[in-house]
Order: sequence, then C-alpha cells, then structure tokens
Amino acid sequence: MKNTSEHYNSDAYLSYFKDKVGGLSNCNRAEKIEKSFKYDQFHIGGVAATQKLLALMGGAHGDCVLDVGCGFGGVARYLTYSGGFKVFGLDLSASYVSVAQSIDKWLGFSDQISCERRDICDPQLGVRDFDWVVWSHLGMNIENKDLALINCSNAMKKSGKIIIYDVLLSCAVGGGGATYPLPWASMPCDNHANDLKSYKNSLLKAGFKVIYIEKYDDILPEILENEVPLDVPPFAGADFRECLVNLRQFLAQGIGAPWFIIAEKM
Ligand SMILES: C[S@@+](CC[C@H](N)C(=O)[O-])C[C@H]1O[C@@H](n2cnc3c(N)ncnc32)[C@H](O)[C@@H]1O
Repeated sequence: MKNTSEHYNSDAYLSYFKDKVGGLSNCNRAEKIEKSFKYDQFHIGGVAATQKLLALMGGAHGDCVLDVGCGFGGVARYLTYSGGFKVFGLDLSASYVSVAQSIDKWLGFSDQISCERRDICDPQLGVRDFDWVVWSHLGMNIENKDLALINCSNAMKKSGKIIIYDVLLSCAVGGGGATYPLPWASMPCDNHANDLKSYKNSLLKAGFKVIYIEKYDDILPEILENEVPLDVPPFAGADFRECLVNLRQFLAQGIGAPWFIIAEKM
C-alpha cells in the first residue's frame, strides 16, 4: 500500500488544472465544467469512456453512487453534472482527496459530491445503501479484490449494481512484458491487474451476479494511431508522460485492454 500512496502523489496537478480551466475567465460555470472534463478523467479514453460508463449505467436522476478510488473526482463530477447522480467518493490518497474537494468547491459541486480519504480494503468501511458503485481504473491497484468487492457489496442496497471499468489482462498474452512505470504502478510488484476469469470469481464470491461484459476496443485505435502528446495532465508524479508512452505499448502488445463489467448484488 505504501508504494500505491507514493505513486499517486501529484503536487503539480491542481495548478495545472486551474491554469487550463481557470484561464477561461470569460466563460460561465457550464463552459468551465465542460472544458474541465478534458483534464480530470484519470483513465483510458478520458471523457469518452466516462460518457460510455454513464450510458451503460442508465441510472435514475438522484440515484446515490459510491465512487471507489475517485482520484481527483473527475468521474464523480461528470456523473453529477451529466447524470444527475449524488456521489460519495473515497480514495486512498489524502492529497488526491484534498484536490478533489478543492475542485468540487471551485466548480460548485460541493452540494452534490462529498469525498473522503478511505481504503476500499478497510474492514471498517461500513454498511450503506448506495444504488450504484462506480469502480474506475481501481482494480489494477487492488491485490485483494475479494475483500474490496465484499466491502463494495456491503455499501450497496440489494439489487444495487457495480460498474467496473478496468484494464484486464489478456489470457492469451499473460501479464508479463510490460514496461514500467505504468499510469497505475511504478513497478511490477504494484501492478495487480487480473484477467476476466479472476474478476468473475471475485464478484461471485462477494455475492454479485455478472450481468454485462464488454471489452472496450472502440477506444483503442485513437490511442494506438496517435503519439502521446507532450502536454499531458500530471496525474501521478513527474514522469506521467512516460507512464502513458508505456501504456500505449502495453495496449499495442495486447498485454491487457480496458473492459466494462456490470454486476448486480444478489
Ligand atoms: C488510476 S486512478 C483512477 C481515478 C478515477 N477513478 C478515474 O477513473 O478517473 C486510481 C485511483 O485509485 C486510488 N486507490 C488505489 N488503491 C486504493 C484503495 N485501496 N482504496 C481506495 N482508493 C485506492 C488511487 O489513489 C487513485 O486515485
């Protein structure tokens, strides 16, 4: 866990974000928020993937969502703004939670979103009644997915759903051959990506029924056909562009790919 906290540390992010979004002094709130989604989605495919996630959720306006591993809160703000959800975010990184809270306040989201520093593997997480759990690019950091998913299940009401958007390992290629750092891990021992079979087993053990699975291939051509831009948000550490260059290679080699999984609490 120490390595994960060290990896997810970015002092430069808040000023980068405010420069990009706050520079638009003539813009109204809606214009700023819409622009902000280009800089705060810390997962493959950026806001296009979050749009897809929201479409797959198809949830009702006002549903309560637990966003586990919420990072800087980009997904939470998107779900609130475009989907009308109320979101509670949690994240292991104290500095990310603090940045998420600052941005929420700055862009006027504090009434619909709250967020706390918590570990999804903490057994004291407690029983709640969320309609949805959103788990976006978290699993690659979670060694004990059985426990994390049991905690998610406890936080949901019966028939509530979890949507997972993670990088899953390809069974054919196996997990080896990646170059580090990757966006979610500085070194191999911190990379807890698994294959689909392993996710299905962990979901079943935690009392979920898998109802939807999709390999998100649509997003790959745009990533593979273009070089990583020079100006990328400093999401994690000083070498984040290097992380993205290595990720592009990881995807090109077919070591893993982004997938959506939806499961219902039985
Ligand atoms: C790649 S970022 C994804 C952020 C966000 N979900 C998104 O898709 O834009 C992964 C996040 O998971 C958080 N994380 C890793 N391990 C965690 C744990 N055990 N409990 C809670 N959050 C964790 C990290 O601090 C980081 O913010």
